[in-house]
Amino acid sequence: MATPTPPPTSASQTISSPPGEAQRDRERLLEFEFLRATEFAALHTLSWIGKGQKELADAAACDAIRGMFDIMDIRGEIVIGEGIKDEAPGLFKGEKVGLWRSDSPRFDIAIDPIDGTTNLSKGLPNAISCIAAASRDEGDLNSLQEIPAFYMTKLAYPPEVRLAFMNDPKLPISVDAPIDEVIKITASILNKGVRDVVVMVLDRPRNQPFVDAIRRVGASLRMIGDGDIAAALAPALRRSHVDLYVGIGGAPEGVISAAALRCLGGGMQAKIWPRDDAERQSLIESGWGDRLNDIFLSRDLARGKGILFCATGISESPLLKGIEVQGTTAITHSMMMRARSGTVRFVSAHHNLSQKTIRLRSTRSEVGI
Ligand code: FBP
Repeated sequence: MATPTPPPTSASQTISSPPGEAQRDRERLLEFEFLRATEFAALHTLSWIGKGQKELADAAACDAIRGMFDIMDIRGEIVIGEGIKDEAPGLFKGEKVGLWRSDSPRFDIAIDPIDGTTNLSKGLPNAISCIAAASRDEGDLNSLQEIPAFYMTKLAYPPEVRLAFMNDPKLPISVDAPIDEVIKITASILNKGVRDVVVMVLDRPRNQPFVDAIRRVGASLRMIGDGDIAAALAPALRRSHVDLYVGIGGAPEGVISAAALRCLGGGMQAKIWPRDDAERQSLIESGWGDRLNDIFLSRDLARGKGILFCATGISESPLLKGIEVQGTTAITHSMMMRARSGTVRFVSAHHNLSQKTIRLRSTRSEVGI
């Protein structure tokens, strides 16, 4: 009779996974740590909401995120940072984050410590903190595609529309198609009337042609002042009641949105929108001339399966509720997800402010909120 294999006898026995699985295991665990970083950022901006000091709020968010990165067992590199567009305090491209032990997993990171800093500084809705990370251990050096331009024209749509487009690429679901046609086909795919299609647009003069066309076709327009990451993700979340996001917004925000949409199953198309001749010329000189007319799909901006995305709401947005403070409790609302599994988690955390501390880079210590 064969002797049965004895079960492990000691908790210290190592259970090792094959290399591919080990990678997945690490992503699973690290996802929670990235989430803690956006939670920290949101909590550390709490006292800046409505204070009219957007740079200080941004600095507070960055300090908290760096503080969390300082204890994370990763070899992380910021590949898409914030702060390039408006010279705000930010985590910058090339910055190394994490403990950088020789066997720590390697991640490329795209980050927006606060998307919607102006909103936060005015106490307006639509401010979130978010991080997208792509595992480098599977060899792809450009999982998150840096776009060396300020702005892109973006069109984001729900999973149903993405699937219809995949099945029939001739459908007018394109960032190049007139928006009224996109709205009509979206209405028919979602089985609703044109006037019930809700389209979100960033309120900027450059987006006026979209606004005019949406009004002309009779769809339902929602304009936002700032924060187009939450806006681009909204169509992929049924509970947001937003069907499309369209318009010209920040290029780094476009890449972060693409990473999140890879996890959510929604779709996005984006195209570089040079601000002026000088930017067009500089893009041409840096070798991007032949890509100016390219349409980038989400999977071109965020490649591979090892994509993680986390966000925490600071003020109310179509994506997440803002931070709620009840007495000595602060409640944060976050989401975390991975492209590999497609699992989307919504996490509400109750923080006891009389005990809670977060770790900051500036003090290299834990501080109260
Ligand atoms: P910040 O929070 O970094 O200032 O970005 C806010 C934002 O509204 C983005 O969501 C959007 O992509 C971009 O600014 C639009 O840029 P601009 O304000 O220059 O039109």
